[in-house]
Amino acid sequence: MIGIFDSGVGGLSVWRELVPLLPAARMVYLADQANVPYGPRPLDDVRALTERSARWLIDRGCDTVVIACNTASGAALTHLRETFPATSFVGAEPAIKPAALHTRSGVIGVLATHTTFASDRYASLIQRFAAGARVIEQPSPDWVMLVESGAAFDNQSLRSVASRLEPLIDAGADVLVLGCTHFPFLRPQVEQVLAQHRHSAVIIDPGPAIAREAARRYTAGSVPRSPNSVPGALLHEFWTTGDPTHFSRLAGRLLRQAVQARPLRLP
Ligand code: DGL
Repeated sequence: MIGIFDSGVGGLSVWRELVPLLPAARMVYLADQANVPYGPRPLDDVRALTERSARWLIDRGCDTVVIACNTASGAALTHLRETFPATSFVGAEPAIKPAALHTRSGVIGVLATHTTFASDRYASLIQRFAAGARVIEQPSPDWVMLVESGAAFDNQSLRSVASRLEPLIDAGADVLVLGCTHFPFLRPQVEQVLAQHRHSAVIIDPGPAIAREAARRYTAGSVPRSPNSVPGALLHEFWTTGDPTHFSRLAGRLLRQAVQARPLRLP
């Protein structure tokens, strides 16, 4: 069974890529919406929250856990692998390597949370793959809550998206890295702002690459079990530490399918 974790609905941008790759796999999605956003929190706080959720997913029977959150991965992935050695973890990290391969102008814009930019994992990515490029870091914490609140579906989000993108456009960035799993849900607005400025840029959504890696690990690491091996079990479960009605409505719109989330109280 595969667990997918995010502070909120952002990890659904990975989920929607993973389901078609593993249509028969049981999957459990956990959103820690009681504590979203993670971005403004100190690294050790994010690490503790992520460990708590990972433990719950493992106790529920997940042998592969996707930390579908750049912020949580940056803060906790190394720690999780040490703490739960029997579990296969897949993380999310800003796609700096592909960005460095795509850029022609040599200017890369990265959109992520403050905590992601503060992590050692991010520093190491820049050092290893972007030494020759100019990388402009644009913290965009407000975008997380635009998606969480449902504002991503209306035009009021366009102004906030534009104000974060314009400095990157002005600097000549020709690659934009969506370094937070919430941000692919704002892609229509990002494309609209680029069009308004007659600026073209490659937009990198890391969802497909994370999903491919998760599918590879899951298939290699475990004997894929039949979805019916647990009688009466749902193929896809959604849990939130926040309000399940809000999650279900929002996830339903983002995924364009009916979603029925369940409430979870974590110790
Ligand atoms: N989806 C998370 C990420 O990828 C959102 C961070 C947050 O909760 O602030 O970084």
